[in-house]
Amino acid sequence: MTTSIDPINTPAWKQLETHAQNFTPDLRTWFATDPGRVANNIHQVGDLWIDLSKNLITPKTLTLLCDLADETRVLQRRDAMFQGAHINTTEDRPVLHTALRRPQGQPLTIDGQNIDADVHDVLGRMYTFAAAVRDGEWSGVTGKPIETVVNIGIGGSDLGPAMAYEALKPYVQHGLSARFISNIDPTDAAETLADLNPETTLFIVASKTFGTLETLTNARLARQWLWERFTHMGITSDDAARTRAVAKHFVAVSTALDRVAEFGIDPANTFGFWDWVGGRYSVDSAIGLSLAITIGPENFTDFLNGFHVVDEHFRTEDPTHNAPLLMGLVNVWYSNFLGAHTHAILPYSQHLHRFPAYLQQLTMESNGKGVRWSGEAVTYNTGEVFWGEPGTNGQHAFYQLLHQGTRVVPADFIGFAHPAHPLKDGDTDVHDLFMANFFAQTRALAFGKTADEVRAEGVAETLISARTFPGNRPSTAIIAPSLTPSVLGQLIALYEHITFTQGAVWGINSFDQWGVELGKQLAQEITPALAGDTQALESQDRSTQTQINHFRQLRHGE
Ligand code: F6P
Repeated sequence: MTTSIDPINTPAWKQLETHAQNFTPDLRTWFATDPGRVANNIHQVGDLWIDLSKNLITPKTLTLLCDLADETRVLQRRDAMFQGAHINTTEDRPVLHTALRRPQGQPLTIDGQNIDADVHDVLGRMYTFAAAVRDGEWSGVTGKPIETVVNIGIGGSDLGPAMAYEALKPYVQHGLSARFISNIDPTDAAETLADLNPETTLFIVASKTFGTLETLTNARLARQWLWERFTHMGITSDDAARTRAVAKHFVAVSTALDRVAEFGIDPANTFGFWDWVGGRYSVDSAIGLSLAITIGPENFTDFLNGFHVVDEHFRTEDPTHNAPLLMGLVNVWYSNFLGAHTHAILPYSQHLHRFPAYLQQLTMESNGKGVRWSGEAVTYNTGEVFWGEPGTNGQHAFYQLLHQGTRVVPADFIGFAHPAHPLKDGDTDVHDLFMANFFAQTRALAFGKTADEVRAEGVAETLISARTFPGNRPSTAIIAPSLTPSVLGQLIALYEHITFTQGAVWGINSFDQWGVELGKQLAQEITPALAGDTQALESQDRSTQTQINHFRQLRHGE
């Protein structure tokens, strides 16, 4: 898999270009003239009912996109991923997050190691630990049960657990809660810890590399906070007592077990994972420990099973019915042929309020690449900007642009039949009211309102153009029975495989992230300049020097 096919040289790409040149989206006519349009574009994946019919696609578009997948060998790359080939070429690693959620007992040998046994061994340890924390068998150093789990991590070591914890709040054990510290802005640690009782707080330091500046700094701040509070309470007075406190209040999740030990966390309290799990694909590894503790092993198992349902669909389903494959291909259509630059994620679920942020890392760190895996620069657009907010908040903020702006913004609407809180406002079911907005928005986007329809409402002629809705704004509807752990796993896996498909068509390595390195390196060089090191300051460019001087003047009056 080291040679990559330049997609723009494939016959399918050229045919898609011609198709796009003659393409006039007309959803009203397409629905009116094709009675099979709805049925042909609905896909069921596990509990996810996915309606692609309001996208700007015709049967011909889909045929050409499937040809493109074929000619860029997407399915061969998919199979290589599931089999553990080193498709992450720049780091020479397999890509096997799918192995984290396979049922136990199906051996999978990668590079001579049965990783099925490894995965289930760690899961077993996680579940034992989670159960001990949940039932109070694992207590703090003063014998009190744990009430708050604080996950310290960033990027994939934060966004997944934080998003999933919010999403699955109804499944959290009463009396337990989780908090998340990620930002190196000292405000994050200070405000997250301010009202916590150290006796009932458990820190999980989550870092794949255990070398991430933000996480290690925040972990040291948390350890300092714990020691200071305990000293103040007369609990820790000497080094031995401090070590005991760390042993009971800190656990770690990492692939770098030596670095964890250096930090002072007992290897017995460390949960490992492997370099074949990318950070943004790791919520289903031990990185999900805070979730396993708060929702419990049974629910965590359901969460993993949900991923597996979609993995199997993606691995085995025919391309014409393979929902993640088709959704990825449709995203390529929008990005490379219809000029879309962004993609909106609009969950109609307050519990999914962190889902767009989670998908930003998944999609943009994966597919924001400018070279193919063979090293050549791409000559076409890759990764779109993903963004979004839960409905209906977004409706009152940015939907104006979706309805009447000048840009194509494909939007995914995600909704559920059963709410977590079935409230009524008088006789009105509030969830129905909420979901009426979901359906209204996708309809308004697709079909708009013509000038004649506006005129027929008696609107003054001068206002007609401003009050016309052009329609033909693409959306996908994803509806599931309710937001269970399994359904959340299904949703995440769906987007993982959409992301995979796009990366495979574009011929890019969706599993490295070299683009985050330069900023990290420069921050290390700049840090001494902020502390007054003139040599470090002088080695900066003039603009950066001026900014630093201004900052130092404001901060220190220099
Ligand atoms: O800087 C980006 C990144 O490497 C992400 O890919 C990763 O999820 C995050 O940092 C955190 O890394 P770690 O888990 O090693 O602390």
